Amino acid sequence: MVKKSACIFISGKGSNLNNLIKRSRDYNFPIKIKLVISNRKKAFGLNYAKKNLIPHLVIDSKYGNNDNKILQILKKYRIEIICLAGYMKIISKDFLRSYKKKIINIHPSILPKFKGLNTFSRILKKGEISSGCTVHFVNEKLDSGKIILIKKFFINSKDNENTLKKRTQKLEHFAFPEALIKIFRNI
Ligand code: GRF
Repeated sequence: MVKKSACIFISGKGSNLNNLIKRSRDYNFPIKIKLVISNRKKAFGLNYAKKNLIPHLVIDSKYGNNDNKILQILKKYRIEIICLAGYMKIISKDFLRSYKKKIINIHPSILPKFKGLNTFSRILKKGEISSGCTVHFVNEKLDSGKIILIKKFFINSKDNENTLKKRTQKLEHFAFPEALIKIFRNI
C-alpha cells in the first residue's frame, strides 16, 4: 500500500505518538511518520521520535507564531497529513487553508461536549454518566471540526480525574489509528 506521509504534532507526553509509531510499522497502516514537531523543547514525546530515528524538530511557540516556518518544513518533507496528538497550540487560518481537511486532532471527550481545556474535571463536575474521546478534522473553531470517530465508556462512581484520564487514553490509542484507517480506506 502507498502510505501517506504524516507529521505528528505534540506538546507533551506523547503516548498517542508512541502508539501511532508502533501502529505505522504495520504494512497495511495508511500512514508513514516522516516527521515529529513539538512546540515544547521538554516534551517527553520527543524521546519516542529519537528512539525510533524519526526526524523531529522543536519549534518553540513562546516567541510568537511560527506557522509559516512550519509550513515550509512540511513542504520540504512532502507531508500529506498532520495528526495533532496533544498539541497545545492553536493553528492559524493560513495554515489551515494550506492543509484543508488534512489536519486531525484527538480530544478527550465526547464532542461537541466539553471542548477546550480541563476536560476531566468539568466532566466529573457535570455528573456525566459516560465519557470518551473524539477524533475530528481541525477547522477554525476550537474542537469543532467534522467528527471522524467517537469512542465511549461508562463513568463509574469510583472514577476521579486520574482514572478518567487513564481510561480515556486507553481508548485514544484505539481511536486515533482507527480514524486514520477510516479516512484513507476509500482513497
Ligand atoms: C490526549 O489526552 C489528547 O486527547 C489531548 O492531549 C492528550 C495527549 O496525550 N488532546 P499524549 O501526549 O498523546 O500522551
